[in-house]
Amino acid sequence: MSEVNETPLLLRAARGEVLERPPVWMMRQAGRYMKAYRDIREKYPSFRERSEIPEVAIEISLQPWKAFQPDGVIMFSDIVTPLPGLGIEMDIAEGKGPIIASPIRTQKQVDELHGLEPGESLPFIKPILQSLRSEVGNKSTVLGFVGAPWTLAAYAVEGKGSKTYSNIKGMAFSDPTILHQLLSKLADAIATYICYQIDCGAQALQMFDSWAGQLCPQDYETFALPYQQQVFRKVKETHPDTPLILLVSGSAGLLERMTPSGADIINVDWTVDMAEARQRLGKDMKVQGNLDPGILFGSHEMIRDRILDTIRKAGNQGHILNLGHGVLVGTPEDNVRYFFETAKQADQLLAHV
Ligand code: CP3
Repeated sequence: MSEVNETPLLLRAARGEVLERPPVWMMRQAGRYMKAYRDIREKYPSFRERSEIPEVAIEISLQPWKAFQPDGVIMFSDIVTPLPGLGIEMDIAEGKGPIIASPIRTQKQVDELHGLEPGESLPFIKPILQSLRSEVGNKSTVLGFVGAPWTLAAYAVEGKGSKTYSNIKGMAFSDPTILHQLLSKLADAIATYICYQIDCGAQALQMFDSWAGQLCPQDYETFALPYQQQVFRKVKETHPDTPLILLVSGSAGLLERMTPSGADIINVDWTVDMAEARQRLGKDMKVQGNLDPGILFGSHEMIRDRILDTIRKAGNQGHILNLGHGVLVGTPEDNVRYFFETAKQADQLLAHV
C-alpha cells in the first residue's frame, strides 16, 4: 500500500470515516514550550517578524512536525495577523498578546475600514502554506486558521486582551448598530481570508471564537453565532469540501447553540465530559478535543489513561484528538512527545484493555 496516495487521517476523520485511531494534533503546538522555538525567538524577538518572514514562520510551523509527527500541522501565525490589511494597525507584545493602539470605538472608524485583499496585505501566507504542504505531503494535514468576528472585534474595540470586555459589551448594550456593522465587515474579511488560505494550500480551517464564551447564551446568539454563520456560509459557497472547525473557549453552556454555526467539527474543551458532549451534539456532528492541557504536567500513566478515556468516550468515528485548548507554556516537551506517541498507538493500547 503506497502511503503517498493515502488521504491523511485528519481529513478522513473529518469525512466521518470509521478509523482505527483518531488523528491527533495540538493547538499551539508550535510555541514557547519548545526549546527550538525559544532559540529562534532570540534571533527574531518580534512576533510579527517570526510570523511574517516566510522562512522563519515555515521553520517554526515545522518544529513540532519534525519532533512529533502530528496528524495536523498548523501554520504559525496569529488571529490578529489580517487586521492591518483592514486598516487596523496592531502589534503583538511579549507576554501580553495583541495590542491595537487606536481601538475602534466610533462609526467613523468602522466606516473607514476596508475590505481584505489577502494577496496584497498578507503576501507571506502563500509561501508559508505552500511550503508546509510540500514538506508534509500526504503524511499530515495542513491547517489554516482565523479568529472569528466576535473575538477579533473584542481585540479591535478593547485594544488588547481583557478580563471583563467592558468596552465591547458597552458598545453591544448601548450602541449595537455600530458593533453589528463592525462584526459584519469582519465576517466578510474573515471569509475572504479563509478562502485565500484554502487556495494557498490549507486543507482544513479552524476558526477561533476564543472570547465568545464570555457572552451569555442570548448574547452569543446575537453577537457571535450570526457572524460565525456569515463566515462559514460564504466559505461553503465556493469551498464546500474543506472541513471547518469551530472553537469557543468555555463553551460548556453553549455547545448545542454552536451546531447551527455551519461548522463541520466542534472543538470541545475539558469542562465537558466527552461522552456527554457527543450526546448533546448528536451523532452527525464531528468533534475535536478534549483533554485538559494541564494533564501534560502529570505522569505518563495519567496522560495515557486520559487519552484512552477520551477516545473511548468519543468513539471511532468523527473525532480528532486534541487538547481542549492550547498547550501551556512550561509543559515538559517529553510529555508532549509521550502524548503523541501514545495517541498514535491508541488502537493497540485499547485492544489490550
Ligand atoms: O496553534 C498554533 O501552533 C498556531 C499558532 C497560534 C498563535 N496564536 C501563535 C501565538 C494560534 C492558533 C494563535 C491563535 C490566537 N491568538 C488565539 C486563539 C487561540 C486561543 O488561545 O483561544 C488568540 C486569542 C490569540 C491572541 C494572542 N496572541 C494571545 C492571547 C497571545 C498570547 C499572549 C502571551 O504571550 O501569552 C498571542 C501571542 C502568541 N500567538 C503567541 C503564540 C505562540 C505567544 C507569544 C510568543 O510566542 O512570543
